[in-house]
Amino acid sequence: MQGNRILLIVAGGIAAYKSLELIRRLRERGAAVRCVLTRAGAEFVTPLALASLSGDKVFSDLFSLTDEAEMGHIRLSREADLVVVAPATADLIAKMAHGLADDLASTALLATDKPVLIAPAMNPEMWQHPATQRNLAQLAADGVRQVGPAPGEMACGETGLGRLAEPDEIVAAIAALLAPVARPLAGVRALVTSGPTVEAIDPVRFIANRSSGKQGHAIAAALAGAGAEVTLVSGPVHEPDPAGVRVVRVESAVAMLAACQAALPVEVAVCAAAVADWRVAEPLTQKLKKRAGGAAPTLALAENPDILKTLARRGPGRPELVIGFAAETEDLEGNARRKLAAKGCDWILANDVSREQATFGGVYNTVKLVRADAELEAWPRLSKAEVAARLVVRIAAHLRAATVAAA
Ligand code: C5P
Repeated sequence: MQGNRILLIVAGGIAAYKSLELIRRLRERGAAVRCVLTRAGAEFVTPLALASLSGDKVFSDLFSLTDEAEMGHIRLSREADLVVVAPATADLIAKMAHGLADDLASTALLATDKPVLIAPAMNPEMWQHPATQRNLAQLAADGVRQVGPAPGEMACGETGLGRLAEPDEIVAAIAALLAPVARPLAGVRALVTSGPTVEAIDPVRFIANRSSGKQGHAIAAALAGAGAEVTLVSGPVHEPDPAGVRVVRVESAVAMLAACQAALPVEVAVCAAAVADWRVAEPLTQKLKKRAGGAAPTLALAENPDILKTLARRGPGRPELVIGFAAETEDLEGNARRKLAAKGCDWILANDVSREQATFGGVYNTVKLVRADAELEAWPRLSKAEVAARLVVRIAAHLRAATVAAA
């Protein structure tokens, strides 16, 4: 990012405060950031804060004689390598989709000849509204890139999809747009499962687990970064959607399997989800009532489908490479090799969960790569993003070798 120039448009929303952190991180990586602040944005962050962090003048007024004399809106939008809108409000997205230009931000967006990345942030109902979704579809068709939003709790107290992507996530999306690196997986289709599954007991209760989805989401992001066309089938998690990945949200194991099968054919499948082994055999359609003096209910469970095993089944349409995970507490290699055979998959990333108590939900992971076709590799303690990056290097090498062998 060293030397890259980013025009950051800050629109009005409570998430605007995160744009300050975003500027700091971009500047740490050597990018020059110049800010345009909308009138509504100025209700949430001050021009002085943006100017202090960016080290540059902040532009906000289309009809300012000084601004227009020093730097016209056309130059402003052209003298950048990338235009980033963070937060992008429903209003500014609508203006962009319709080509309106009634203030400096919308005018610069209409005048630019550079790639545009939006990081939307808004109330979940506004996000889901057909008008917003229509506008987003238009922007996607116009080539505008998008990062986020993430699910979670909003400042307004509601929960859902609409939180601004975290600054790191936006930085990663910017880096990917600015430096189209080697794309060793261009043309490769990949499927990744991530997160927990949630198995309903009745309309309000469920059985789930503590999987954060961090490792699976990092793998999906790394595959997409390497140029693969990625479908991420995820149970409910708090991780933001990785940039450039098609995300399918599911709850139960049965729904996860159906979504995986709908994503086929793919060349690579990575099953990182913590799929519940059992579901409630017959979820109730009405809430289970507690009755005074009544006995505690017994839950009858049924076994869930094994998604990894199903995807790894030999036959036409099987992905070339099927990768699973194994959490073990003893005899890591022996158990991982037995699991390779039992599941029929090609590789297993195994982690010793007896030592790595912080693996679940943590940022780091210590894994061993166990392959049917090669010696075991013991990787050092790495961040989950680095585990993902290493895995992607191995995947690319394997697919290359397979292509050469087939030729
Ligand atoms: O059998 P176990 O749960 O230890 O296997 C773990 C691996 O199998 C992980 O890759 C997990 O994603 C996958 N799995 C699955 N469907 C299940 C159970 C596990 O895809 N029902």
